[in-house]
Amino acid sequence: MANIQSLRGMKDIIDNESELFTYFVENCSRIAKKYGYSYIETPILEETALFKRSVGESSDIVSKEMYQFIDKGENDVCLRPEGTAGVVRWFVQNKKDRAGGIHRVFYAGPMFRYERPQKGRLREFHQFGCESFGEASVYEDATNILMINEILSFFEIGYKLQLNSLGCKECMPSYRDTLVEHLDTLDLCDDCVRRKEINPIRVLDCKNETCQTNLSDAPKITTNLCGECDTDFEKLKKILDTNGVAYEIDSNLVRGLDYYTKTAFEFVSDNIGAQSAIAGGGRYDRLVEFLGGKPTPAVGFAIGIERLLELIVMKESQEEVLYIGAMSEEALDSVFSLVKTKRAYGKVITDYKSRSFSKHLNNAQKQGATTVALVGETELQDGTIWLKNLTSQEENTIKIEDF
Ligand code: HAM
Repeated sequence: MANIQSLRGMKDIIDNESELFTYFVENCSRIAKKYGYSYIETPILEETALFKRSVGESSDIVSKEMYQFIDKGENDVCLRPEGTAGVVRWFVQNKKDRAGGIHRVFYAGPMFRYERPQKGRLREFHQFGCESFGEASVYEDATNILMINEILSFFEIGYKLQLNSLGCKECMPSYRDTLVEHLDTLDLCDDCVRRKEINPIRVLDCKNETCQTNLSDAPKITTNLCGECDTDFEKLKKILDTNGVAYEIDSNLVRGLDYYTKTAFEFVSDNIGAQSAIAGGGRYDRLVEFLGGKPTPAVGFAIGIERLLELIVMKESQEEVLYIGAMSEEALDSVFSLVKTKRAYGKVITDYKSRSFSKHLNNAQKQGATTVALVGETELQDGTIWLKNLTSQEENTIKIEDF
């Protein structure tokens, strides 16, 4: 019988990659907290209707990629394909919309999309995301972009920022009519014919080359914005200019999810192959209302963790790691108690076996220790401990009480 393998497009994260993974999430969380965000954990499994109503039926995510099933209680459920919908469900369920004020939350966790796996495209992947509710000012959009910029700069990742405005409920409908008139004159792929009926602007996002060529003369959203959206978009560009954040306007950027209004953006990298989007987001001022809440402005983003891990190198760790080992069976009790005491001050690794001096040194080096402390028969008798600083290579023996 063949051994059981992990599912296609799903993978284990271990060793260097898991080190990088936690390093990435810890630093993103640190940065998000500086911007006033608090951590939220929402369920991985939600009602299917949540994603149909938010991400939208015209999106590939809902129409083709959901891990959807009927559970034992006959509920139509699915594994979350993204994080925003669950956070908005929490927001409305807990009446945050009625409480008013600003609410900012961040999350990190697995998402599931039944896509065709390839480099940079998994069926289970992880996102770090931030969602902000209650702030309509375009400064909040700019702050989101600056936060991603700070995260990517911390990890020394170069990027291109693509920016668009999708308009609001005032200007979107008339743009949509103008676009549909134009689309009616074009030869479109089957997916686009379907999209045209449900949400025509999603046609602009089609990856089919013939559609893209045919769409080159399509009316642009950015030239059809109402006064308020236009002013906001100009203001956003100005804030980014003033703060040294470069961007390109891409009027075909509509994003793969239906809930966006006004600002939409994507951060892309040239260094990870065809799946180049490393983060995406934007404003979604109507989603709270679509999910039954009071109209509440909102903006957010998510970073694809696996794609980012391809690009980051861990910064030189400043962390001290102490390795304590026993060189005789009798020294194990002493080592156990030293490890326990020293853990109050930092990271300590050990090996509960009596080993030779060189075996311990080897182990310590392999596990990234900065200092090695060993106790053997002689040290036990003398009440001492042998130390080596693996950075400076200095060695000495000190009294156990001075350790
Ligand atoms: P999204 O653009 O669908 O946005 O996903 C965000 C990021 O997740 C992408 O830029 C990409 O890095 C990563 N990603 C997406 N699909 C995959 C995949 N199959 N394999 C690996 N990585 C992937 C959202 O999900 C929105 N919820 C973002 C948002 C938050 N908008 C407002 N708030």
